[in-house]
Amino acid sequence: MAAMLMVFLLCVTTSVGSAVDAGMDYTIPSSQYGLILDAGSSGTKLKIFNWKRPYGSRGRIEIKMIHNKKFKASINDYIYKLNDINEYLQLIIKQAKIVVPSSEHSKSPLFLMATAGLRIYPGPTAAKLISAIYNLLANRTLCPFPVHAEGVRILSGEEEGVYAWVAANYLRNFFWSDKPPSQAVGVLEMGGGSTQIAFIPDEPIYANMFPVWLGSQTYNIYAHSYLFYGQNYMLNRINNYLIIKARPRFIDSVENPCMLKGDNTSVVDSAGNSVHVIGSGDPEKCLQIINIFLESGEEDFCHPKPCAIGRTYQPSVGGIIFYAISAFLHAPRHLGALDSLNRLNARVMKENATEHCQKSLQTVVEGGLPAEYGSEYCAMGLYIPSLLVDAYGFPENTTSVYATESVDGVTIDWALGAMLIEIELRETNSCDTSGSGWPSSSIYLYSVCLIAIYLVAYCKYIHGAVL
Ligand SMILES: *[C@@H]1O[C@H](CO)[C@@H](O)[C@H](O)[C@H]1NC(C)=O
Ligand SMILES: *[C@@H]1O[C@H](CO)[C@@H](O)[C@H](O)[C@H]1NC(C)=O
Ligand SMILES: *[C@@H]1O[C@H](CO)[C@@H](O)[C@H](O)[C@H]1NC(C)=O
Ligand SMILES: *[C@@H]1O[C@H](CO)[C@@H](O)[C@H](O)[C@H]1NC(C)=O
Repeated sequence: MAAMLMVFLLCVTTSVGSAVDAGMDYTIPSSQYGLILDAGSSGTKLKIFNWKRPYGSRGRIEIKMIHNKKFKASINDYIYKLNDINEYLQLIIKQAKIVVPSSEHSKSPLFLMATAGLRIYPGPTAAKLISAIYNLLANRTLCPFPVHAEGVRILSGEEEGVYAWVAANYLRNFFWSDKPPSQAVGVLEMGGGSTQIAFIPDEPIYANMFPVWLGSQTYNIYAHSYLFYGQNYMLNRINNYLIIKARPRFIDSVENPCMLKGDNTSVVDSAGNSVHVIGSGDPEKCLQIINIFLESGEEDFCHPKPCAIGRTYQPSVGGIIFYAISAFLHAPRHLGALDSLNRLNARVMKENATEHCQKSLQTVVEGGLPAEYGSEYCAMGLYIPSLLVDAYGFPENTTSVYATESVDGVTIDWALGAMLIEIELRETNSCDTSGSGWPSSSIYLYSVCLIAIYLVAYCKYIHGAVL
């Protein structure tokens, strides 16, 4: 697995080489705009970046997101309607053409990166969607921005985590400094579909290691993404679990202990039957269900050790500072589990969630909380402390997890990290045969490139198989 991930990363680093092979003219020019279509499960966000490099090609990249607009439909909605997707993409491209000055269009690279929403489909189905999108975006009549085949893809969950890690640490001015790796912050991210953990442990990494090349240095990061452990999918899983447990007898309703009393909803089970789910607000029972999803694997099946969830290896979080972002923010905030520095207190969160879960929906709505969050904060309020303490291994009294969405007012966004990595890969690249770009001391870089060249054949084999 780890080897595969490394190979994949190296494949990305060698993509410039393959583009040249394919006779394409693709380089990130000195133009300072770049676009990422962040294709999530609830919509696509057009994120436009502007950057400069005042100190030359090895100096700090100064980058800002200058535009962020959400388009409501998701590319997932087109997975079985490939013929209709051009119309949708054109809406986004039209907006992008307005924001980026027209003289820069042909020099500003565009990427489409899809996240957890597409990871639930079988590879071949998702690959068809991705290649349909690439064919449209690569057509210069339809899209004036240069697009590279590797630039239209579904991110692995680990890439998503690593990019968020890059964004957080970039905003803290970690790169292009002499700060030791121990001063990097770890990142905990939770979206609707998956949750990610990424950090530089202070012990060796035995699996799931991602090398990140930025600021003329390589950082070895441990990263893992758990699909179906994001906020929305976790809530759905609890319902599915309850329905499956109630079988084999036919049921048309189940009680959900993670939902508040007075709340109810309908879900469609795997056989297509509608099942009414009724809240019973029982924190103890809710926690039992959550713990089933979070259980660590049996000793015999956990290699290398230690394991976090199931058989997934994770080195110790040690005393490292973590930023918990996106869906990690809301429930702790509402439940009063953050101190004045926004540090998350797992014990208070669990206690206050236990209290919150026992209130009726009507009571919390009267207290000013929008109804849609009533049950969500019960389930998330119990889930998050268990995830941190029982799965990730933070001590219950940890003061190392900061729930924060931004650094100095700038949002920590994986897309920022992704853009930085893309710029760095192409600008300091790399396996250019001219040899002119080599810094005399960069033996390490040189050897990385040699390994990369060695792996190109294997990469091509993999790409050939997938695309
Ligand atoms: C690009 O798009 C235009 C307009 O839809 C179409 O006429 C043309 O055939 C496309 N080119 C390629 C290479 O697909
Ligand atoms: C389900 O919720 C609706 C409001 O969303 C409420 O009117 C209805 O009485 C509830 N039904 C049950 C059985 O709790
Ligand atoms: C959370 O619990 C703490 C003590 O355990 C209490 O002081 C605080 O008011 C509670 N906050 C909420 C929002 O319930
Ligand atoms: C957490 O608890 C342990 C053991 O009870 C203690 O040694 C440690 O100092 C505590 N840490 C913090 C940050 O309070």
